[in-house]
Formats: sequence, C-alpha cells, structure tokens
Amino acid sequence: MESQGASAQGPHLILLGAPGAGKGTQAAYLRDQWGLTHISTGDILRAEVAQGTALGAAAHDYMQRGELVPDALIIRMMAERLALLGAAAGYVLDGFPRTAPQAEALDAMLARIGHRLDGVINLEVERTELIRRLSGRRVCPNCSAIYHVETMPPRDAGICDACGAALIQRKDDQPAAIANRLEVYVAATQPLIDYYAARGMLVTIDGTIGVPAVAEAIRAALCGGA
Ligand code: AP5
Ligand code: MG
Repeated sequence: MESQGASAQGPHLILLGAPGAGKGTQAAYLRDQWGLTHISTGDILRAEVAQGTALGAAAHDYMQRGELVPDALIIRMMAERLALLGAAAGYVLDGFPRTAPQAEALDAMLARIGHRLDGVINLEVERTELIRRLSGRRVCPNCSAIYHVETMPPRDAGICDACGAALIQRKDDQPAAIANRLEVYVAATQPLIDYYAARGMLVTIDGTIGVPAVAEAIRAALCGGA
C-alpha cells in the first residue's frame, strides 16, 4: 500500500529488519511525522491478492507459506511504483529490497530516475520478541494500520482506530509461516546488511527502544551524514 503524508519533501530510505522488527509500524510513523511516502511491498501484494489481480494470484501461495515472491515479479512491480514518484518525493521502502538481485535492481532503478539513497536502516530485534510480536499482531485490512493485542491494542478491541474496520490476523502470522519467514529472512535478506554496510550506508538501530525513539535515531544518523 502506498500512502502519502502531508509534505512530499524528504529523504529516500530503506527499512531492513526481520519479520516483526517493526518496519511497517516505523514507516507509518515516518509517513505521519515527516510526510514521507510509505511504500510497503507486503501491503501492495496483499492488496493485489485481495483484488484478485494476476500479480496477486501469482504471489498468493508464496506469501501464505512465508516464502519470497519471485524476484522478477517484485522488481517489475517496484520499477513501476518508483517511476510514479516525483523527484522531490521523500519515501521509505518497507520490505524491499529483500534479496541481492532486488538490491542490484534497485540501484539501477534509482540511477534511472535520478534518486539518491540517503540511508538504510536496519532494525534489530531478537527472535523471541519477534515471535511474540507476530503472534499477537492484528492489522486493518482496509488501511493497513498495525496493532498488537497486548502492547499496541486499538481503543476498541478488534476495531481499527483509524478507519473503524474490523481487524484481522494475517494468514502468515500462523506459527509455521512465522518460522519459515524467519528462516527466509536469515538466508535471503540478512546478507543485504553487509551489502549496504560495505557502501557505508547502513545504520543499525535497536528496534525495541520505542517508535519515536527509533525515528529520532534515524534523524540523528541522517544529520550525521549516514
Ligand atoms: P511483509 O508484509 O513485508 O512481511 P515481513 O517482512 O515478514 O514483515 P512484517 O510486516 O511481518 O513485520 P514488520 O517489520 O513490518 O513489523 P510490524 O511493524 O508489522 O511481507 C509479507 C510477504 O510478502 C513476504 O513473506 C513475501 O511472501 C512477500 N514479499 C514482500 N516483499 C517482498 C519482496 N521484496 N520480495 C519477495 N517477496 C516479498 O510490527 C510487528 C508487530 O510488532 C506489531 O504487532 C506491532 O504492533 C509490534 N511493534 C512494532 N514496533 C514495535 C515496537 N517498537 N515496540 C513494540 N512492539 C512493536
Ligand atoms: Mg510489515
């Protein structure tokens, strides 16, 4: 899902981190506070599945099992999405890139549209906490707002604060799919930490310090020239 905040000026950021590290929560906060456009490949794909498009049909089974959707589909989808953004738009990429070929394709896309990458934020959270977060997560199928039944509950149980829709549990937040997603992350996405660290772009932040504190750490890192 792509949602636009108030002002369209700002940095170009990638959020890296394991399933449950808080990428979507943090990106929504940066959208609301800094006016960045939030581009979540997971939200885009879930919308494609819900609308019954060809892309949604191709992605559905991979997503349900907690496996990655093939690179070619994701790269084409993101090339189209990024090409729509104006040169001044600030944005945060949540869930892309996730493999080495995707990272290389992103470099080429950014070069083509003349955008500079300002920082890659790696949110670190340990495994037990990731599983606790994913097991208790509830999401809004309408506006993609994210909750946790214990630590970030909505005002009225089961109802989205933002739009009033009934909250759901994601199908890939079942135990078997969670375990698979965590394994896939280690094998396919964790190597990107080295890819961006080698270019001096990586900022690693403790993902348990609270959402505003993480945003502050990102701001400090950007001001420090990360
Ligand atoms: P996607 O939707 O991106 O799932 P994910 O990467 O597994 O990450 P999550 O959305 O589960 O976690 P998050 O880090 O966003 O955490 P959140 O903020 O929700 O992708 C889904 C699937 O789509 C993939 O498995 C794959 O099949 C496919 N896909 C997507 N992109 C792809 C790509 N590039 N290539 C190939 N396939 C792709 O928070 C989690 C919970 O923690 C919530 O309950 C929240 O309330 C809580 N929480 C968040 N922050 C905090 C905090 N600071 N303190 C306490 N609790 C917190
Ligand atoms: Mg997410």
